[in-house]
Amino acid sequence: MGEDKHHADYANISSSLSKEETLQHILDSYSALASDTTNWVANLSNCSSLLWHAYHSLNTPVNWAGFYVRSKPEELILAPFQGKVACQIIKFGSGVCGTAASSQKTQLVPDVEKFPGHIACDGETKSEIVVPIVKDGQTLGVLDLDCLDLNGFDKVDQEYLEKLAELISETCDWTKL
Ligand code: SME
Repeated sequence: MGEDKHHADYANISSSLSKEETLQHILDSYSALASDTTNWVANLSNCSSLLWHAYHSLNTPVNWAGFYVRSKPEELILAPFQGKVACQIIKFGSGVCGTAASSQKTQLVPDVEKFPGHIACDGETKSEIVVPIVKDGQTLGVLDLDCLDLNGFDKVDQEYLEKLAELISETCDWTKL
């Protein structure tokens, strides 16, 4: 990092950027930050901050941005995030996160009320996207974004967030979960 650059600058994202440019900024910033450490807590913490600030710069009312990681063979536990307090444990196959974890497929949910079994950590959430983080065929965790608007996320978000999940899978040391 250059002498005049501070870590917090990565979270100062111009609102004049397009959606694609903003999402690319997340990928580039994550890569730069993750070059300092393979510690998953540090990397997912900074990634939650990048996601939170990036979506707010786009005026998308994201109310939760963060992660659940696999704590047992078929169970997720709350991991670094930005937003309000959330449920701590989610079984594979349960809710949007557990479905993404067990199917290893992104869950793009335009209206959470229409997702059978959706776990309402916050009654204000209207839409959600959950992207699995996978390595060598194993689910390591999920990236979860919640929004106060219906249809908060689309295929563009999915494309970039799936790239982010791949970067996360590659850059963190998952042996010390
Ligand atoms: N809504 C999620 C639970 C996690 S919170 O949104 C942070 C689900 O249905 O799995």
